[in-house]
Amino acid sequence: MTNTHTDLRLQPNYPVWHPFTPLMGASTELEVVKAEREFLHLAGGRVLIDAVSSWWVNLHGHGHPAIAEAISKQASTLEHVIFAGFTHQPAVTLAQRILDILPGAHSKVFYSDNGSTAVEVALKMALQYWHNLGTPRTSIIALSGAYHGDTFGAMSVADRNPFNAPFAPLLFEVQQLDLTPTDDIWAPLDGSDQHTIQQMEKILAQSKPAAFIYEPLVQGSAGMRFYKAALLTRLLELAQQHQVITIADEIMTGFGRTGPLFASEHLTKNTPELSPDIICLSKGLTGGFLPLGVTTCKDHIQQAYRQEDIMATFFHGHSFTANPISCAAALASLDLLQADHCSAQRQQLSASLASFTQSLQAHPAIAHVRHLGCVLALEWKSSDKTGYFNEARHRLYQWCIDRNVLLRPLGNVLYIIPPYCISEDSLQRVYAVIKELLAELQ
Ligand SMILES: Cc1ncc(COP(=O)(O)O)c(C=O)c1O
Repeated sequence: MTNTHTDLRLQPNYPVWHPFTPLMGASTELEVVKAEREFLHLAGGRVLIDAVSSWWVNLHGHGHPAIAEAISKQASTLEHVIFAGFTHQPAVTLAQRILDILPGAHSKVFYSDNGSTAVEVALKMALQYWHNLGTPRTSIIALSGAYHGDTFGAMSVADRNPFNAPFAPLLFEVQQLDLTPTDDIWAPLDGSDQHTIQQMEKILAQSKPAAFIYEPLVQGSAGMRFYKAALLTRLLELAQQHQVITIADEIMTGFGRTGPLFASEHLTKNTPELSPDIICLSKGLTGGFLPLGVTTCKDHIQQAYRQEDIMATFFHGHSFTANPISCAAALASLDLLQADHCSAQRQQLSASLASFTQSLQAHPAIAHVRHLGCVLALEWKSSDKTGYFNEARHRLYQWCIDRNVLLRPLGNVLYIIPPYCISEDSLQRVYAVIKELLAELQ
């Protein structure tokens, strides 16, 4: 095929500023002209396998006709309306569908625009809960390695790292617990976990924190880092004993990524009382088609807002709150997610990732390999520190892109989190590219 395409980036004064991308140096953005299933079609004819679900948002494949059709239908019926003083069926139906599948009895759904705003809403909802009760609590407990988004509240409860360093003086203080990663979420507690538990006990003995926020069992941006279910169980028990509001950030883990629909279910299937008080969702919510965030809460949280006093109102909202088109996309995506076909796809994907994990165990170039549900991560041995700025990421990324596979390593951690519809052939291609890279590095 002849390449008649003009490279967009060669325009004089390329006008776009890309996220997480240095402005200095050669830009390497590839232009995508079309996408279907797990494939990204580039200008000029190349086709890449999207093995990271486009920043973990895509569930059922790009351009899924059922979602595209729901969007088109909704756009020509009601595209948007102010959500204060007005309501609409897609928002109400979606809220009920979400409440029906969440772990624990949640009673309200608050809409926003993306993952970061869902977290901001959660933090503000928890803090104002205490304010409304007349017993203010203002501190938040968070985990080391955490990432909750790029707005100020979300940055404040994240790990303090080079990403948020320029804003450090403006971020509010949090009480951070040290977290030790594991490759097996079911491993028994050890000394380092006891240390985390003791930190939590000390904080609770000395203060009355408002909330505890956590990514359940898998910290995505930290490098698909796992931590132990037994540790999270103990931390949640302690939080509950001290009436600390528990906030699960399921933005990455939600909608089946770790096996069950929500990662919290790994715990709640045996101990339902450990369901979080507040849950944040986004990313896969619309199947990866449109931005939408939701923050849900249990009944006692919203009860603190049911007061005659107008000042007990939750004064928070976004112009596009509960956008009907986004809600329609989410409803279509949930239909797909809850169909037997999707459960079968997720099981097949998980089994395939499990056998690839097995084949990598004890590889001399790999320090760690871990797998949970539809997520696999492998950590390259490196003389540099493990983390986003580990220089290996450039080489690993480019190697895969050159072979038509999109994997976007977090430093020396390469991970696979594909759309559930990915074919076994495509997976084998992804594995082959990784294996070639391992051979090359030996
Ligand atoms: C766990 C978690 N929380 C929050 C966010 C922020 O979501 P968004 O990028 O939609 O603002 C992310 C994004 O990667 C995430 O992984």
